[in-house]
Amino acid sequence: MENLDWKNIGFGYRDTDYNIRCYYRNGQWGELEISSSKRIDIHMSATALHYGQEAFEGLKAFKGKDGKIRIFRMDENAKRMQSSCDGILMPKLPVEKFTEAVRRAVKMNERFVPPYESGAALYIRPLLIGTGPQIGVKPADEYLFTVFVMPVGPYFPEGFKPTNLVIMREYDRAAPQGTGKYKVGGNYAASMYEGKLAKEQGFSAVLYLDAREKKYLDECGPANFFGIKNDTYITPKSDSILPSITNKSLMVLAEEMGLKVEQRKVPYEELSEFEEVGACGTAAVISPIKGIYDSDNDKWFKYGNQEEAGEWSTKLYNKLRAIQYGEEEDKHGWVE
Ligand code: COI
Repeated sequence: MENLDWKNIGFGYRDTDYNIRCYYRNGQWGELEISSSKRIDIHMSATALHYGQEAFEGLKAFKGKDGKIRIFRMDENAKRMQSSCDGILMPKLPVEKFTEAVRRAVKMNERFVPPYESGAALYIRPLLIGTGPQIGVKPADEYLFTVFVMPVGPYFPEGFKPTNLVIMREYDRAAPQGTGKYKVGGNYAASMYEGKLAKEQGFSAVLYLDAREKKYLDECGPANFFGIKNDTYITPKSDSILPSITNKSLMVLAEEMGLKVEQRKVPYEELSEFEEVGACGTAAVISPIKGIYDSDNDKWFKYGNQEEAGEWSTKLYNKLRAIQYGEEEDKHGWVE
């Protein structure tokens, strides 16, 4: 892939050579299959199309200085997809089948894994969809699981440069006790309208408040939110937030670096107390935030020197990336 400008590839779809597929029929999952087609042929009455019976995952593989390709925490993604399956009544794919499909998709598209110095990674997108026909609102009897990959740069084009978020109380991403904690397409479709408004106004994402009371911080666009104050890493606890594997990893690293870690309800007012804030996720890694605009009250919360990420965010980012690119010993067993 010598003609790709690896440092500036951005975050977007790209064709690669192969994808892995696995079909669920007659009550069981079949063998993994390899395909070079980018197309899937499904029934027009498939439940994924009408009722959003589908779940996806996002994880990454990194090429280290030593040339080795490392996949980050894929067992966690496998388990999270199982949880999404429970949430919308899809048959769970065994963890080993998921991880084997991911391994094979990476291996077969090895030439697309960005080189070490580029700072880019191979994004892996597992997808599970209801393909069997239904017209009543009920689960399909047939499913397709597929894994495809593509090289990507940072999700937010600014990369590790601070950006701004906006609060818009008239929009919710997911209902309390709804599907927000599952990685299902409906949550992302529900965030597109206000996400577009936010981008048109120069913000990188919407910082949602809890849908029930509008008192607490919730999901942050397609990522989780964290704030740091008084040597404490604080991240919202809510049942409508997707449990980010990056956030989970950052909590471990933060603690090891000497920060206290709190996962709890975070009142809106606390925005004025944070020393640093950021968005985190597989795609976003850590996206430092320099300002949050409350559009309903015409009020700004500003963080840091506006030019660069804060000290703790930088330390956490460097640590996480060092593990992912194999520069640091993987004492947690996070990479394979
Ligand atoms: C991820 O961080 O992997 C995501 O799925 C976020 C977004 C690209 C949907």
